[in-house]
Amino acid sequence: MAIHPRKNWYELTRTTNWTPSYVTEEELFPEQMSGHMGIPLQNWEGYDEPYKTSYPEYVSIQREKDSGAYSVKAALERAKIYENSDPGWISILKAHYGAIALGEYAAVTGEGRMARFSKAPGNRNMATFGMMDELRHGQIQLFFPHEYCKKDRQFDWAWRAYHSNEWAAIAAKHFFDDIITGRDAISVAIMLTFSFETGFTNMQFLGLAADAADAGDYTFANLISSIQTDESRHAQQGGPALKILIENGKKKEAQQKVDIAIWRAWRLFAVLTGPIMDYYTPLEHRKQSFKEFMYEWIVGQFERALIDLGLEKPWYWETFLKDIDELHHSYHMGVWYWRSTAWWNPAAGVTPEEREWLEEKYPGWNSHWGECWDVITDNVINDRMELVSPETLPTVCNMSQIPLVGIPGDNWDVKVYSLEHNDRLYHFGSEVDRWVFEQEPEQYQNHLNFVDRFLAGHIQPMDLDGALHYMGFQSVEELGKDAHDFAWAEKCKPSNTKSA
Ligand SMILES: [Fe+2]
Ligand SMILES: [Fe+2]
Repeated sequence: MAIHPRKNWYELTRTTNWTPSYVTEEELFPEQMSGHMGIPLQNWEGYDEPYKTSYPEYVSIQREKDSGAYSVKAALERAKIYENSDPGWISILKAHYGAIALGEYAAVTGEGRMARFSKAPGNRNMATFGMMDELRHGQIQLFFPHEYCKKDRQFDWAWRAYHSNEWAAIAAKHFFDDIITGRDAISVAIMLTFSFETGFTNMQFLGLAADAADAGDYTFANLISSIQTDESRHAQQGGPALKILIENGKKKEAQQKVDIAIWRAWRLFAVLTGPIMDYYTPLEHRKQSFKEFMYEWIVGQFERALIDLGLEKPWYWETFLKDIDELHHSYHMGVWYWRSTAWWNPAAGVTPEEREWLEEKYPGWNSHWGECWDVITDNVINDRMELVSPETLPTVCNMSQIPLVGIPGDNWDVKVYSLEHNDRLYHFGSEVDRWVFEQEPEQYQNHLNFVDRFLAGHIQPMDLDGALHYMGFQSVEELGKDAHDFAWAEKCKPSNTKSA
């Protein structure tokens, strides 16, 4: 029997909107779960997904991808990446797996929400494949780090991070709960797939894959490129949903969702991916700076995508561009300083050569962050180690869940953006974080950030030990430490630096 090509039957078979007779349309697609904004069923039929696939095609391609990634892993087992790589690279693997693996499982729920509750048949169909994609991403990114657990307990955090109260895990969960599990189907299409996956996962997965290949970790490079090919397919669910909202007079609502998600994704990426790309990746393997990746994948890409759709750049675009030059340097210094609270070992990344690279990529780096690193370096060289570890908790933003930072140096500018709401005082790290809260206070108002929990007495004893225990660290070996055991400071000793 001849097999009909997909194009002959696809449109017909996925046109699965029928007129419900046992229940009302609203009962079938409740606004709270669907997010249809009152746009009727027939208007969603025009949703045209740019990527079309059938189940047999999907399964055969995915099978190839999976077996490719697993066989590269098996073939390269003898390369002994764990033993032979720079410790900064190993920290990247730990940070990535802990921050991403279970976020992928959360994305299964988001895809599931679209598969059931989107009024657009094309969206439901694509999301069914998207669910299977995310299941694969969760499983493969738990399996790959698992072999390292017996060598290094920090790799166990691939599984544990999202089940813990560690600060970076809280920041990631707060964000993903906001754009994935705690939203209706159309919000997921816009906030997860369009805003987050189109740009930010590209950067994490393709940018990092380039660095991984350069660092000789082909297993990781292959794994994350294989994931990214799925992401770039299912990320295409948001665009057609935005088109329908705009055509039906909901541009303002659509724009607001885009603006919230891009800002929130940015702040999380600045604390996780920024330090990874500009400080942890060994200098000789850096393909591009974090800023260059941001400009390529986010700034250029989003400007084009937004304008093509008829949306505007987010109102905070200028603040965002300024942030790209600055924010992650301050975040990095904070993460390194509070390193015992991380499940990975932050690499300082400030040898004389690295500082030269930072100054070249970020002119003015030395007069801001460099001066602080001078003091830290001097303390390390002179064995004043009590001065390079924290004793207190920083102030934490009630939106990003990341500590408030400023730009060190002459123009020290740290500022708290506060808001009183229902008799509670909230603090934010930026005007935009506060704006996000004001858009939907009911979405955020009951959450306690790490410092709120501390003040509420959830963390006992009320000191750093109590905080580390509360975060879920089970042994001293799991606590983050300087990735290179301060070897970098040796290279900074006056006798070891080139004279000016
Ligand atoms: Fe994924
Ligand atoms: Fe995804």
